Amino acid sequence: MSDKLQIALAEGDGIGPEITKACLLVFEAAGCLEHLDFIPVEMGKAVFDSGDTRGLTDSAIDTIERLGLLYKGPMGTPSGGGGKSINVTLRKTLGAFANLRHFQSLPGVETVYSQAGVPVDFYVVRENVEDTYGGVEYRLTNDVVDCKRIITAPGCDQVHQYAFEAAKSFGIDRITCGHKANIMKMTDGMFLDRFNTIARDYPDIETEDVIIDALCMNLVLKPQQYKMVVLTNLQGDIVSDLAAGLVGGLGFAPSANIGEKVSIFEAVHGTAPDIAGQNKANPTSLLLSGLILLRHIGMRKQAATIENSLLYTLESGVHTGDVRGEKAPVGTIEFAEAIASNLGKTPSDRYVRQVPSEDTPEFTPPERPRINRVMRTNETVESAVRGCDIYIETLLAPHDLAQKLELICAKSPFKLTMMSSRGTQVWPTGSVYTEVVDYYRARFELRDRHMIGRIGQQKPIHLFEKIGEKFPVSSFQLLKEFEGKRGFSLAQGQ
Ligand code: NAI
Repeated sequence: MSDKLQIALAEGDGIGPEITKACLLVFEAAGCLEHLDFIPVEMGKAVFDSGDTRGLTDSAIDTIERLGLLYKGPMGTPSGGGGKSINVTLRKTLGAFANLRHFQSLPGVETVYSQAGVPVDFYVVRENVEDTYGGVEYRLTNDVVDCKRIITAPGCDQVHQYAFEAAKSFGIDRITCGHKANIMKMTDGMFLDRFNTIARDYPDIETEDVIIDALCMNLVLKPQQYKMVVLTNLQGDIVSDLAAGLVGGLGFAPSANIGEKVSIFEAVHGTAPDIAGQNKANPTSLLLSGLILLRHIGMRKQAATIENSLLYTLESGVHTGDVRGEKAPVGTIEFAEAIASNLGKTPSDRYVRQVPSEDTPEFTPPERPRINRVMRTNETVESAVRGCDIYIETLLAPHDLAQKLELICAKSPFKLTMMSSRGTQVWPTGSVYTEVVDYYRARFELRDRHMIGRIGQQKPIHLFEKIGEKFPVSSFQLLKEFEGKRGFSLAQGQ
């Protein structure tokens, strides 16, 4: 058996095979293949076409799980039908919880910032598994659909810890946490709170937090003020593409999906079907993702050498057709050959990467866990039931519905304390200008506050059943206190 480090390789669809070939050509020229073996795995269009809605073969999953590293080109997701994005499936099922992207001004790639002499060089670390990407969605009534936004303390801890560790190893001394905790006080609030908690273990790294909308404006106005930004999944998705726009587009943004056991390194752009098979595609994004992979496994010297050569090549005006430049564009393979022949050369000082004196390739493939790991952050928290929210489908006006609900709960331990529509309170107070839909949230809280802690969940469930006898009910949520603190949000206007 070879003692080389094995990496699963999925070359992808569309331009995938061309850009993968180009990257491997550069890796070979740089001597990386003396240490690395790329093992092809089957996924993508051909697998979807064969009728497998995952787009992945069992043997591909097995190889990726065994090796712990996947280098992949872009994959097409069939529109419509049952096929789901392979990228999202892989990240979620294999626990690649942090998405790392590096956005940097590149020589020869003209942007408004490069023209203005503003250097852009920052990382985005995005939570990759939770949030609305949980894909937990329901149609509740004729007019209402719902998407659950799941944020967990261990999930936040994983991504924040990774961000601080990555910052330490890249020599970054400031991390910004982007959030919307002013509105989503519990979900984004937890993301921010865990950020501040984890930060205490890294006193040498300065921290700040910023509301996501202000962050977007600041990134456009003064991108040079950021070094690393950590974000929840959906906000991170949007900000990552905004950031790609600052440095010349998706073709230049590398991406790594880092997990405890399995990590995936991929180009962020798609399969570019319009130029597939024409030797026109730009391999830079996939190559830069490969450099994150090399650094991940300790091959920092080779990564820096290749990066200097790529930057030198771009600076000398050699480019593919998607980049504006004075010289005529070259093809994908010619671009890779130019990088290979420039190995050892360095770009001008502002772009040059320091090359470490030696490489220490090191990666231990993961041991297969016997069962799923249960992650926990808060192990001993006292909780007590305080009531429940019951979601009701009806076209009644708020006061008419409230009257009926008060009758139903009259003999129960609960009283109706609030009703809201689309999150805005409409009873006991509210405005007749608030437009309502066919869906109300009715909040029932214990009449006697002294009963908190003894009530359990049976009585609220019984109330749900009683209301269910009179109205269509679409969902139910227990209201709890955790160590005496309210574990639920108030309605707008409450
Ligand atoms: P796309 O990124 O493939 O193409 C958008 C435009 O950018 C096209 O004009 C294309 O020619 C150009 N482009 C993209 N990469 C390029 C490169 N390396 N060099 C030169 N030009 C490049 O996005 P689109 O058209 O929305 O998606 C096509 C397919 O790719 C879809 O099936 C989509 O699901 C999939 N996709 C896969 C991703 C992945 O595997 N990570 C990410 C995004 C899309």
